[in-house]
Amino acid sequence: MKMIDLGQSGLNASAIALGVMRITKLDLAGATELLETAHAAGINFFDNADIYAGGEAETLFGQALRNASFKREDVLVQSKVGIVPGKRYDFSTQHILDSVDASLSRLGVDYLDVLLLHRPDALMEPEAVAEAFDTLQNAGKVRQFGVSNCNPGQVELLNTAVSQHLIANQLQLSLMHTGMIDAGIHVNMTDDRATNRDGGILEYSRLAGMTIQAWSPYQYGFFDGVFIDDPKFPELNAKLQELADQYQTNKNAIASAWLLRLPGTQVIAGTTNAKRIQQIAEAGDVRLDAQEWYDLYFAAGNDLP
Ligand SMILES: NC(=O)c1ccc[n+]([C@@H]2O[C@H](COP(=O)([O-])OP(=O)(O)OC[C@H]3O[C@@H](n4cnc5c(N)ncnc54)[C@H](OP(=O)(O)O)[C@@H]3O)[C@@H](O)[C@H]2O)c1
Repeated sequence: MKMIDLGQSGLNASAIALGVMRITKLDLAGATELLETAHAAGINFFDNADIYAGGEAETLFGQALRNASFKREDVLVQSKVGIVPGKRYDFSTQHILDSVDASLSRLGVDYLDVLLLHRPDALMEPEAVAEAFDTLQNAGKVRQFGVSNCNPGQVELLNTAVSQHLIANQLQLSLMHTGMIDAGIHVNMTDDRATNRDGGILEYSRLAGMTIQAWSPYQYGFFDGVFIDDPKFPELNAKLQELADQYQTNKNAIASAWLLRLPGTQVIAGTTNAKRIQQIAEAGDVRLDAQEWYDLYFAAGNDLP
């Protein structure tokens, strides 16, 4: 498994991580098997959020973590707060503090390795976030901090008050969701792909030493479905298969290796299938060459100006 220094924090994280947004599809035995299989495949990083399945995902993940044969200290546990479902995004000090306490309690752990703010709150006050982060760090409840779905301006705004280095930004990124790459390739052109929807977050993250955590790495659209093995994407699937054969691996691993070839990325895979997470983990041993990377980008329907 390829390991990364997450956001230059010193946390030694697997480049493939397991996200547990969908874990409540499983019972406790299934969830335990999923975690154990992931861990055996070299995955030491797990992504949660307080809102997944209304908190039930954290509860089940926590139970499975206690059931598993590895120790909590041997893995990195991340969660996210800042969304009040259906109502608002909330980066107030009290909301962050209360949400982390609730997450720790559901997870049954003493600390989070990483806490992310889930989606940018239009009303955010950097000082309020700073107060929450300092309190959590001083209490030993959170080791490292980051954001999700933020543009560079939002990160910079937080940085005006937050003293901790923000180590990660979790963003939607897959072979079929490449807006942040397209805009960089089509700089200053008049075609649609030149549209900059994220403020140059790909380049900014590298400059700022932040890891981009790719969420929904095998989906197209906004949870529209999985592109792997979908006949709507014949060219992409043919190329994925060709490279899978060449590297003696599988299409999921190639689609993941494509993301990992971008400097400073981590893949957050959301499968609940133990066999599948094993296959995805094989990406940790594949390094695509530059032409293979571009050929996959073309097979996904993109071009160069
Ligand atoms: N920060 C954010 O705003 C945000 C938003 C969404 C998600 N996330 C994080 O990202 C993680 C991944 O998101 P996701 O679950 O949408 O991503 P994903 O890994 O692209 O999709 C996983 C889903 O696709 C299904 N699937 C079907 N065929 C598949 C195949 N060949 N390969 C892989 N999956 C296949 C899986 O079913 P099986 O379970 O049967 O394999 C599962 O339901 C989440 O768990 C969460 O931690 C973050």
